[in-house]
Amino acid sequence: MAPRTLTSIQPTGVGNLVGGVSPAPMDAGALRAACAQFATGVVVVTASADGQDFGGTVNSFTSLSLEPPQVIVCLARTSNTWSAIERSQTFAVNVLAADQLGTAQLFASKEVGKLSQVDSEPGVVGAPLLTGALSHLECTVADVIASGTHLLVIGRVVRVAHDAAKDPALFFRSQMFDGFSAAAPSADGLPIRRDQ
Ligand SMILES: Cc1cc2nc3c(=O)[nH]c(=O)nc-3n(C[C@H](O)[C@H](O)[C@H](O)COP(=O)(O)O)c2cc1C
Repeated sequence: MAPRTLTSIQPTGVGNLVGGVSPAPMDAGALRAACAQFATGVVVVTASADGQDFGGTVNSFTSLSLEPPQVIVCLARTSNTWSAIERSQTFAVNVLAADQLGTAQLFASKEVGKLSQVDSEPGVVGAPLLTGALSHLECTVADVIASGTHLLVIGRVVRVAHDAAKDPALFFRSQMFDGFSAAAPSADGLPIRRDQ
């Protein structure tokens, strides 16, 4: 049987009981590793405020509802992109293509003027749209839910566009991959990794 890593949760004092279930100290590494088993795409969330463009790499993106058309991104409270979204009440989700891993790395940094290093054009809500992305979802902020270190930012989608001809950038086990060929089945039927 495949190896399985289990991290037990130790109950804390009675004083911490909430609804009959005790919150427990959680090992951050174990939590990160468990979440990292969930494969996702990679997006850059962009926003423009006070004449300046901002953007950050994000994998916590998901569709929320069709009616009304809504999506969610989870952003750290400390994100500069969030600060711009808060001021402009608008943002764009740029779903990255397989050939945009460099863009993903750039937007994962805290560099100033990230948008000046890539091709983009302003969209209908003002947030920059990255050239070459698989899709663009332009949003106004519908709701923000604060929880822990992050914010769930719910966007009302006002315009979309997509290009079905390219492979996606992927994120799995803390690594980015340039498309599905990177995880193509090997001769023994097991997935192979691009870096092997
Ligand atoms: C693959 C990947 C996924 C990421 N996902 C998120 C995310 O979902 N939410 C978030 O706040 N930061 C995420 N980050 C970290 C941000 O990209 C990083 O903090 C960035 O510096 C934010 O830039 P900003 O402060 O200019 O907005 C991710 C980074 C990488 C490489």
